[in-house]
Amino acid sequence: MSGRSYQVRTFGCQMNVHDSERLAGLLESAGYVPVAEGSDADIVVFNTCAVRENADNRLYGNLGHLYPAKKKNPAMQIAVGGCLAQKDRSVIRDRAPWVDVVFGTHNLHRLPVLLERARHNAAAQVEIAEALEVFPSSLPARRASQHSAWVSISVGCDNTCTFCIVPSLRGGERDRRPGDVLAEVEALVAEGALEITLLGQNVNSYGRSLGDPGAFARLLRACGRVEGLERVRFTSPHPRDFTDDVIEAMALTPNVCPQLHMPLQSGSDAVLRRMRRSYRRDRFLGIVERVRAAMPDAAITTDIIVGFPGETEADFADTLDLVRTARFAGAFTFKYSPRPGTPAAEMDGEVDPAVVSERYERLASLQDEMSWAGNRAQVGRQVEILVSEGEGRKDSETGRLSGRARDGRLVHLLVTGPHAEDGVVRPGDVIETVVTRGAPHHLTADGPLLSHRRTRAGDAWEAARSRGAAGDRTTGEGTAGDGTAGEGTAGAAAGAGRPAVALGMPTMRPSSPASR
Ligand code: 5AD
Ligand code: SF4
Repeated sequence: MSGRSYQVRTFGCQMNVHDSERLAGLLESAGYVPVAEGSDADIVVFNTCAVRENADNRLYGNLGHLYPAKKKNPAMQIAVGGCLAQKDRSVIRDRAPWVDVVFGTHNLHRLPVLLERARHNAAAQVEIAEALEVFPSSLPARRASQHSAWVSISVGCDNTCTFCIVPSLRGGERDRRPGDVLAEVEALVAEGALEITLLGQNVNSYGRSLGDPGAFARLLRACGRVEGLERVRFTSPHPRDFTDDVIEAMALTPNVCPQLHMPLQSGSDAVLRRMRRSYRRDRFLGIVERVRAAMPDAAITTDIIVGFPGETEADFADTLDLVRTARFAGAFTFKYSPRPGTPAAEMDGEVDPAVVSERYERLASLQDEMSWAGNRAQVGRQVEILVSEGEGRKDSETGRLSGRARDGRLVHLLVTGPHAEDGVVRPGDVIETVVTRGAPHHLTADGPLLSHRRTRAGDAWEAARSRGAAGDRTTGEGTAGDGTAGEGTAGAAAGAGRPAVALGMPTMRPSSPASR
C-alpha cells in the first residue's frame, strides 16, 4: 500500500473534524500519503454525520459522484465511517454497493486493517462495534493546523435530548483522565500550538464519571498554567450543568478566551420540556448574564432548532424574544429533522413545513440583525488576531489575510507595506490591529498594523511548508453546533464547505444554507 494516496472528506461537527485528524494519522502511519491537490485519491474516506436528514442525502450524492471513478479504477477504495455508518450499517452497501469499507464511531482504529482486508479478500468489509474499543485520542493524529488544535476530553453523551440521535450512535459519556488531557495539551504546545479547543458533547458533565464534578473548571485552570498556551476554548457546554465555578474559572484564567458557544435549542419552556432539556429560559438567560458580568466582552453563540413537534407561534415568539434579549454574537439555526429511533420522531404535532420555513427565515433574519449589530459595535476596537489559513475564501482576490480575534470573531485584514510580502506574516503569527468595519458574519480591519509577533506556531507552519506539508489535508464539509451536527459552515464568513479545522469555535455564521 506504500505510496497509495488518501483523502478524508468530513461531514458534521468538530468531533468528526477531529476524528478525521485521527483517521488521517492512522492512514499515514500505515504508509498512505495525502493526495496531491488536483489529483484523484486511491483511498477516499467519508467521515459522516447523521444529525439531520440532508446529511444522508449528501453522503449518497457524494458516493454517486465517485462511482464512475471507481469503475474506471477498481483498485481505488472507498470507506465510509462515522455516525451515519454507525446508524445505517449495511444499508450503505445496499445503496452504494461500490463502497469497500464501512466502519462506525467506536472502531476508527480498524480502518487500515479493514482496507487491507477488503483488498486482500476482494470483498467489502462492514464492521460496526457496539461500544468504544479504543479512545480515539490514543491514535496517531495528522493535525490540520499547527497553531490551533482540538483536544478531546470526553466522547459520547449521557443526555437524552429527545431530538438527538447522538447518544445512540456515540454511546454514553466516557471521560479522559485530566492528566492525559493535559499531557496532550502540553505536547501540542511543545509542537507549536498556541490555541486549543477542548472537545466533548457536554463538557460541563466532564468528571462526573470520574467522581469529580468540579473537574472541568479545574481543567480550565490547569490549562491556564501551560506555558506558551495563549488561547483556550471549549465546546460545548450544556446549560443544565453549567455551574458558576466554570464561569469563574473562565474569567480568572487569562488564556481562556472570552467566548462561549452554548446551545439553547428553544426559548420556550414548554418546548424545552418536550426536548427533555432540563433547564428553562430563565436559567439560560441567567448564565448569559453571569458570563457577561464576569467577561463583559464575551462573544456568546448558540444553536437553535425551529419547528420541533408541537411548537406553537407563541413558543416560537419566546425563542425570538430570547434571541433579542441574549444578543448572541451568532447562532446556528436548524429546521427540526426527525431522527429515526429518537423519542421526538414519535411525537405528535408535526409543524407544517411551510410554517417551519417561514419561522426559520424570521429567526435567521433576526439573528443576522443581532450579529451585524454586535459586529458593528466592534468598529474602532483594537483586536489581537491569530492569523489562520484557509478562512478567507476571497483573500487572494482582496489581498487580505484572515484570522480569529480572541472572542472567536472572524477578521479579514489588509496588510500593506513590508508586512504584505509573502512569508512575513505567517499563519500562526499574532497581530494587533483596529476593526474598521463590521459585516453580518465577519469583521474587516483595514487600518495600519499595530504589531506583528512571529510565533512558534508561525515557525512550525513555515517548517511544514518547506517540507511541503503545510495546510489542510482533510477536506471539510462544514461544521456546527454543540459537538453534534452540521451543515452550518464554519471557517469562512459566508462560505460553504470550509473545514473548521483552523479555529476553535463555530463561526458567527447564523444559519446554514443547507437547512434553509
Ligand atoms: N433536528 C434539527 N437539529 C438538530 N440538532 C441536533 N439534532 C437535531 C435534529 N434532529 C441540532 C441541535 C444541536 C446541533 C448540533 O444540531 O441544535 O445543538
Ligand atoms: Fe447530548 Fe447534545 Fe445530543 Fe443533547 S443535543 S443528547 S446534549 S449530544
